[in-house]
Amino acid sequence: MLPSPPHDVVLITSEIFPFSKSGGLADVMGALPVALRQLGLRVAVVTPLYGRMCTAKYPVRLVYENCPVGFPWPETTFDVYAANYQGVPVYFIDRPEYFDRRGYYCTSKGDYFDNGERFIFFCRATLSLMRHLSFNPRIVHAHDWHAALTMAYLYFAREEEPFWQEVKTVFTIHNLAYQGRFSYRLFELSGLPLEAWSMDGVEFYSSFNYLKAGIAYADWVTTVSPSYAQEILTPAFGCGLEGILQHRQDRVIGILNGMDTAVWNPSQDSFLPCSYSCDDLRGKAECKLRMLDRVGLSHYFVDRPVLGFVGRLRGQKGIDMVLDALPGLMALDAGLVVLGEGNPAHEARLFQAVEDYPGQVAAVVGYTEEMAHVIQAGTDIFLMPSRYEPCGLTQMYSLRYGTLPVATAVGGLRDTIIPYPLANATGFMFAPATADRLVETVRQAIAVWEEQETWQEMQRRAMRSDFSWERSAREYARLYRSLDPHLECPVFEARADNP
Ligand code: ADP
Ligand code: GLC
Repeated sequence: MLPSPPHDVVLITSEIFPFSKSGGLADVMGALPVALRQLGLRVAVVTPLYGRMCTAKYPVRLVYENCPVGFPWPETTFDVYAANYQGVPVYFIDRPEYFDRRGYYCTSKGDYFDNGERFIFFCRATLSLMRHLSFNPRIVHAHDWHAALTMAYLYFAREEEPFWQEVKTVFTIHNLAYQGRFSYRLFELSGLPLEAWSMDGVEFYSSFNYLKAGIAYADWVTTVSPSYAQEILTPAFGCGLEGILQHRQDRVIGILNGMDTAVWNPSQDSFLPCSYSCDDLRGKAECKLRMLDRVGLSHYFVDRPVLGFVGRLRGQKGIDMVLDALPGLMALDAGLVVLGEGNPAHEARLFQAVEDYPGQVAAVVGYTEEMAHVIQAGTDIFLMPSRYEPCGLTQMYSLRYGTLPVATAVGGLRDTIIPYPLANATGFMFAPATADRLVETVRQAIAVWEEQETWQEMQRRAMRSDFSWERSAREYARLYRSLDPHLECPVFEARADNP
């Protein structure tokens, strides 16, 4: 049975695991609503119904037909599907001409030409859905540029429409580099009032910037780690939006993501050939052996460290830095396996590296959830040389799998890894982000790996790191309550009764 409205907190997202996923946003959206629900909040999620969706575990069913979008498309309608996802109702907006495509946002040749229109539609449809199904939300919480326009629509609607008058808004930035920038024509199509076209609004160097709409108009702006919340106020990390972020500085905070400890758990991971835990690490060696065979690395590396990389093959993640560092890394007598897809130039270099170092470098180019788990478990050292990292989830997974990270000292990496040689170290960090520093830091990590006792101590500590969603969900709940003191949140009520 689907939990029925009212839905006090409505999260709006373009991806949610396990239904749809292209990166960490989906993981967060698959876990945060469940954690909020466990605190006792009445929460719902709205997302598009894509052609490519995984509905095997949580079936979706039609709940509403021909819902009108209203302004600016008076004639257009959409259907609504829904699923009960661990007690959280997830509503899917169905309009095949926009969302029934092979990709979510792009093909291998580039972004869909109508992304601007697709996500105006999504935002308008979401607001219409909340009204037609009487959600009566108190908090609307939008994520990333795809959902950001809802913040602007609500800002203006609050002044005019009683239904929205009391609603408070939160906007979360998962990655400032993806802004959704379109032409003035799209602004006209959006139906936002002309006053929104200003420096303090959605205008950005004569373009229509969706992410900026979220920053400018939400009651609170959050991002996914405290360090990134500081960094984005500076030109080096602000992607041109540091000005408006500084302007709203007293309403910008960082709340560190959690991780889904049920999906990412080496003692209960159905993708792995055998399980292990911080109390008994023996199974990790078997995971490594089987992984070497799967990806075509030599058995020589049973007794030498293997480096792993899982992520989008983009400049953000520093895959080019890994490729530049390759001669130095290979000279350390380590193996390397990379899982990822992205920039065709990086992919081509990677294939070349596999040819240059047969049995020592392996690559899996593509997107496979299973291989992400297999590589996290089967490697010794996890490479995460990101140039910037709003939070990063893969390093949290690697910590939990006892695969100690070598990472740059930026954003969420700084907030999740305790760097060697601190007494309670869980990984290795470096700055500045250069290939030389990467090689040096991997050399340092391998020196510790060679002292297996110290290494295993670090592994155990890393595996015990607490990244539970409960902690983060409480911070969001506290923020919602600061906006709406009447929001029912039993976990806080219980504490007040029972101090
Ligand atoms: P980002 O969202 O910036 O890509 P995160 O570290 O927050 O980075 O999250 C990335 C998520 O995507 C993780 O769940 C990771 O395992 C997954 N992932 C990235 N690339 C691949 C891939 N090629 N195959 C499978 N999973 C991937
Ligand atoms: C973005 C960021 C990543 C973060 C994820 C989830 O994709 O690049 O750092 O972990 O969102 O918040």
